[in-house]
Amino acid sequence: MSRNDWYKVEQLPWPADWAALFGRPAPLVVEIGFGSGLFLVDMARRRPDVNLLGLEISIPSIRRAARKVHREDLSRVILMQASAEAVLQALCEPGSIAGVIINYPDPWPKKDHFDRRLIDDTFLRLLATRMASGADLDIATDHDDYAGQIAMCLSRSPHFSSRQDTPFSYDDSGRVRTKYEQVALSEGRTPRYFKWRRNDAPIDNSFPFPVELPMPHVVLRLPADLTEIGRHIRPTVIELESTRIRYIDAYQSFHDGKLLIETYVNEDPIQQRIGLEIRSRPAGEIIISLAEVGFPRPTPGVHLAIRYLVDQLREEFPSLVVIQTTLQGDHADRSH
Ligand SMILES: C[S@@+](CC[C@H](N)C(=O)[O-])C[C@H]1O[C@@H](n2cnc3c(N)ncnc32)[C@H](O)[C@@H]1O
Repeated sequence: MSRNDWYKVEQLPWPADWAALFGRPAPLVVEIGFGSGLFLVDMARRRPDVNLLGLEISIPSIRRAARKVHREDLSRVILMQASAEAVLQALCEPGSIAGVIINYPDPWPKKDHFDRRLIDDTFLRLLATRMASGADLDIATDHDDYAGQIAMCLSRSPHFSSRQDTPFSYDDSGRVRTKYEQVALSEGRTPRYFKWRRNDAPIDNSFPFPVELPMPHVVLRLPADLTEIGRHIRPTVIELESTRIRYIDAYQSFHDGKLLIETYVNEDPIQQRIGLEIRSRPAGEIIISLAEVGFPRPTPGVHLAIRYLVDQLREEFPSLVVIQTTLQGDHADRSH
């Protein structure tokens, strides 16, 4: 892995072929929210037998950890800048994970923010679908209330069993102290260590892999040029049952006049910031497609974003005609 190398969920196939990415088949162990990477690097040194996947949403943390991984030439470590929920659901086959470590998940201490906590019943169900039976789940926290929540969720889950006689213990002296743990101890807080195991209880996979569709492409005819079309595109939010679309802004090229509509598509657990491209053909038709900026994936939400863009334009230009479309469930207008 080179110094700045890390993956994002959109870059890899859903699900990923971990053996190919790591260059060997080996048990897959995942650390969620590795922060400075102290624990991850120590684990990589101590457990050369496993493929170690580190997940972190903070880019500065990833940079720091990537430098450590690079310095030590730890080839069996892959880092991802991604939320755990997205990686587990989109990239990991059911029953494929041999171990999960979560050290000091953000406690979100305010009552109003409890729903932002990572570990709850839903997250444990997701973990239960992706972990192999017998896989270890190790969690540490120094936060009283969160410790209570974790203990309650684990205890009522039929899919996990404690490896200790109690839900958690106060001592795990054999392990390296994470950065957050060092701060907690220096400020007088008490770490709790949960050592659980995915048991044999079966679970239905209610967390399917995200779907991908063909690249979206719509050919239109409407009585406006690109500049005028750009003027009619308004920042809008569209809330649907499981998808949220936000058209952020429109930009026009000095070079050929084409438009780029910056758009955010949230289809939990996948979030994409994409560009919708609008250009004209010499014959006067307008083409809307997904700009190849970054690693856009043509999900149902991206198709919806283009469909609502066409609807928005149709409101402004009622004579708009769809000549050709690859949008899911859409057809070209028959009159043409
Ligand atoms: C309190 S810090 C602990 C960091 C490190 N484990 C330690 O003990 O020093 C929690 C970390 O989890 C990361 N994080 C929060 N939510 C996450 C998620 N959904 N997926 C992956 N990482 C996440 C945060 O960016 C942060 O670095």
